[in-house]
Amino acid sequence: MKKLTVITIIAVLSASIYACKKDPDTTPVAEVYNPTAIAVTVPAWVKTYVGDMKHPSDNPLTAEGVYLGRKLFYEKMLSNDMTMSCATCHKQENGFDDPRPFSQGTNGTFGDRNAMAIINLAWDKSFFWDGRRATLEGQAHDPVTNPIEMANNWPDVVKRLQNSTVYPDLFFKAFGTRTVDSNLVVKAIAQFERTLVSYNSKFDKYYYNGDTTIFTQQEKNGLAIFKGKGMCNNCHLMNTQLADVEFRNNGLDANPKDDGHMKHTGLATDRGKFKVPTLRNIANTAPYMHDSRFKTLEEVVNFYSSQVQQSSPNIDEHMPDFGTGLNLTTQEKADLVAFLKTLTDNDFLTNPNFSEPK
Ligand code: HEC
Ligand code: HEC
Repeated sequence: MKKLTVITIIAVLSASIYACKKDPDTTPVAEVYNPTAIAVTVPAWVKTYVGDMKHPSDNPLTAEGVYLGRKLFYEKMLSNDMTMSCATCHKQENGFDDPRPFSQGTNGTFGDRNAMAIINLAWDKSFFWDGRRATLEGQAHDPVTNPIEMANNWPDVVKRLQNSTVYPDLFFKAFGTRTVDSNLVVKAIAQFERTLVSYNSKFDKYYYNGDTTIFTQQEKNGLAIFKGKGMCNNCHLMNTQLADVEFRNNGLDANPKDDGHMKHTGLATDRGKFKVPTLRNIANTAPYMHDSRFKTLEEVVNFYSSQVQQSSPNIDEHMPDFGTGLNLTTQEKADLVAFLKTLTDNDFLTNPNFSEPK
């Protein structure tokens, strides 16, 4: 009797071991949270100019977090009627900018500012044209609930993601919990945005990598104007960002309709100031300026050449103080535009790691 029991137990055990071996998928495995820390590789000269990539201590980059953020960036469930994702207004081929002058919300209404490119933002310390957000995480909260953008509310977004078949597992892999919440959504999106780095333009190869043969004479002339007579690098610094990311008034209007940075700070001394935008991939991010007033780079250069409003409130001290502008010749204008076009980084604009995940 005793013997039989032992034999039975052995038989049952070996049967179950055999079953395990045969069909591992049916045996419940205790899942472990084990995200893969990653670092975005940037050329050494980037670190020399702008230092290491910054991210909040509670949101380090992981492969799983970046993947989730990428999926969420393209996720239409974020909008009230499921027609719009972040990528609707931030298109990769346009440097994650919107080719439309003013983005249209799900309810059909238009905003009054041009969308902004999402390029090398990991190093920035303020976001939006007026600088009203201090982190990418904070920024990503806003479009979802903005009535002229995705017009949704966070409880509904969370409910939809929670009920989906894929997201709870992706949140577990990225953050160790299957419970979706808005703070984790924006953390993941911010992680993805930090990977959107663009450092492989013709300009980078010429200026930072020392490939002196790559520029045409016209492009060299354009760069000389950018740094010299044009004084563009007073604000679009020759650091890796082609921007100093401060708030400045470049003299677009004698009487600005949009108060810009003043909307955030409340200070009259900030009226008419806007975030100095990066010029990277600028040939692909038209139209230009916060209100999309210029359709082409030629129009932008004409502005700096002859349409500057010196009476604009708080016009920047770095704006050359000679009447309405730089008075560039036709040739100089063409050279400057040719230089601006060297800032295009096709690897960035077509990088499959940045596109909608399949
Ligand atoms: C309906 C179009 C639209 C949608 C959808 C949209 N954005 Fe934007 N985005 C804009 C506009 C317009 C601005 C500039 C607004 C301003 O400055 O007031 C902007 C600005 C930004 C900026 C600031 C960039 C900088 O240099 O400061 C970031 C980052 C950004 N959006 C990310 C996102 C993310 C992430 C999502 C999805 C959660 C998203 N956007 C959805 C239109 C949109
Ligand atoms: C005083 C600082 C300053 C100087 C000098 C300056 N810019 Fe700008 N630039 C800005 C600011 C600020 C904006 C955004 C203004 C806005 O939208 O209200 C801007 C916008 C632009 C844009 C449009 C970017 C976009 O994404 O819409 C281009 C292109 C540009 N500048 C090129 C130049 C060139 C070329 C020069 C030299 C001829 C130059 N800038 C000189 C501050 C400056």
